[in-house]
Amino acid sequence: MLQWIERNPPRRRHILIPGCGRGHEIFSFSGAGWNTTAIDVSPAAIEKVKRRANRALAKQIYCADFFTHAFNPGQFDVIYERAFLNALAPARWPEFVQRVATLLKPGGLLLGSIMFGDCGAEPPHGLAEGEDRRLFEPGFMLLEEAPVADSVPIFEGRERWQVWQKR
Ligand SMILES: C[S@@+](CC[C@H](N)C(=O)[O-])C[C@H]1O[C@@H](n2cnc3c(N)ncnc32)[C@H](O)[C@@H]1O
Repeated sequence: MLQWIERNPPRRRHILIPGCGRGHEIFSFSGAGWNTTAIDVSPAAIEKVKRRANRALAKQIYCADFFTHAFNPGQFDVIYERAFLNALAPARWPEFVQRVATLLKPGGLLLGSIMFGDCGAEPPHGLAEGEDRRLFEPGFMLLEEAPVADSVPIFEGRERWQVWQKR
């Protein structure tokens, strides 16, 4: 993620981080000059993040549901996700992809680390081989894919960095 930020100067572009948790990524993007918005349903996580944020950034950090919050269609240039898609029940993955497509501008990017492989009934839920293509390819084109070297232990060797562009 940090390498992607280095390669992509923000030019004031707007990024959304759904399921941000305690989200150090918020500060990586915001610190690099991105107009950063983040959202999570966990009051405890959002309280922690807001405490670290300056006033302008804190106004763009929401304790709310990514799927129903009143964002505008096409509001974002980039959506960054880590461990959010995998935290959702697989039955909600098509809804996630649809929501991302709605919120991105044409040509906008979804980027992040996606975890693959069966983990059993409890979250995190890994995608099956090829499931990313089935979910995203109707509306997105894969621009980048690479193994993730700095995964947390639970995801080690199973995460892929991906960048999908909305068609
Ligand atoms: C596994 S955590 C990942 C947190 C963070 N992205 C990270 O990598 O550390 C998943 C997060 O998604 C949040 N979440 C789950 N459902 C959500 C929803 N519908 N809208 C917003 N956030 C949600 C949870 O509260 C949790 O913080």
